[in-house]
Amino acid sequence: MSIFTKQSETEWLDENIPRSTRFDDTYYTKTDGRAETGHVFINGNNLPERWKTQSRFTIAELGFGTGLNFLETLRQWKEVRPPGTTLEFISFEQFPLTSDEMRRALSRWKALEQSAQSLCDHWQPDGKTFELEIFPHVTLRVNFGDANNLLPEHACPVDAWYLDGFSPAKNPQLWNEPLLKNVFALTKPGGTFATYTAAGFVRRNLQTAGFMVSRIKGFDTKREMLSGYKE
Ligand SMILES: C[S@@+](CC[C@H](N)C(=O)[O-])C[C@H]1O[C@@H](n2cnc3c(N)ncnc32)[C@H](O)[C@@H]1O
Repeated sequence: MSIFTKQSETEWLDENIPRSTRFDDTYYTKTDGRAETGHVFINGNNLPERWKTQSRFTIAELGFGTGLNFLETLRQWKEVRPPGTTLEFISFEQFPLTSDEMRRALSRWKALEQSAQSLCDHWQPDGKTFELEIFPHVTLRVNFGDANNLLPEHACPVDAWYLDGFSPAKNPQLWNEPLLKNVFALTKPGGTFATYTAAGFVRRNLQTAGFMVSRIKGFDTKREMLSGYKE
């Protein structure tokens, strides 16, 4: 047995909100992370409407973090999906949390209790990928490593992207132009992205990559966020 243990890079704010010491940022907003997921990523990509008409839907995410975006997406998809439809959720994560950290970070949301337990019970972040069929017709695949290296090897066309790195100023490698060009290349025509940030360099990188980009009302006190599509 190794005498070395991995030094945790997570510290905890009030109400079990995790903060990365590596990136000096929280994993989700201090106000209400679950509501932010709904506003920014689910509504920002217009998903409830699109789920009603598409039999197979693929979401990809940069930064799996606590799994909150995935679990809230699953919860909302179950509410509106027509019978027989399938959901595929692919995420890219370089610094996975432990299952205990995820459990603690997700503990404040009663509505996610069962699915969070199932995810955390199965979670194994020590290989190249983690796959789980958490619910019939729903597949989760988390690819571990730097998204800058993983995306060029990826082949699956994406309907909607969740761009959820830490703050662009603190985690610029998840918002750079080559990476967002790869995001664009993997997006289906008519596919979309959404992100909580409205940072100027992110908007320009998304436009240079080829997306049509809009600034829309951000979550809670945030004035703006970005969403967009591929023609
Ligand atoms: C804001 S958190 C994501 C929150 C997450 N979507 C959730 O639902 O909890 C940003 C995530 O991006 C990951 N990350 C940062 N740089 C990365 C990179 N270059 N490649 C892949 N993941 C990265 C971090 O480890 C962190 O988990």
